[in-house]
Amino acid sequence: LSTTEVDLAGIEPGQAIKTSFRKQPLFVRNLTPKEIAEAEAVPLSELRDPQTLEQRTKTGHKNWLITLGVCTHLGCVPLGAGEGENKGPFGGYFCPCHGSAYDTAARIRQGPAPKNLFVPEYEFTSDTHVTVG
Ligand code: FES
Repeated sequence: LSTTEVDLAGIEPGQAIKTSFRKQPLFVRNLTPKEIAEAEAVPLSELRDPQTLEQRTKTGHKNWLITLGVCTHLGCVPLGAGEGENKGPFGGYFCPCHGSAYDTAARIRQGPAPKNLFVPEYEFTSDTHVTVG
């Protein structure tokens, strides 16, 4: 199966880009300290699909949130990366199809989606490059 190289160098804090991985949308987001703090402040008991930010990022790189851009309800592409600036009520991503809202760790917080945005396998090959897949 193919891998995708992502150059992180041009992605500013607070910015998210949309690229692709195995023909699916891939979101790569550079979280701000505030967005990290917001994610870490949420009790796991409030989460439908309980995962910490640490579980969804790599050690030493928790500002880099890398997920598929595929809503776990029926597969629409959420807004909040690339062309869509609507991050929704929880500050992460917002799926306009049926109103699923994801937080700054891309965890589902509101709406019909059952699961967090999927985190694919990836690794850092340098401080500014990751290989996904
Ligand atoms: Fe995203 Fe339904 S496909 S809310």
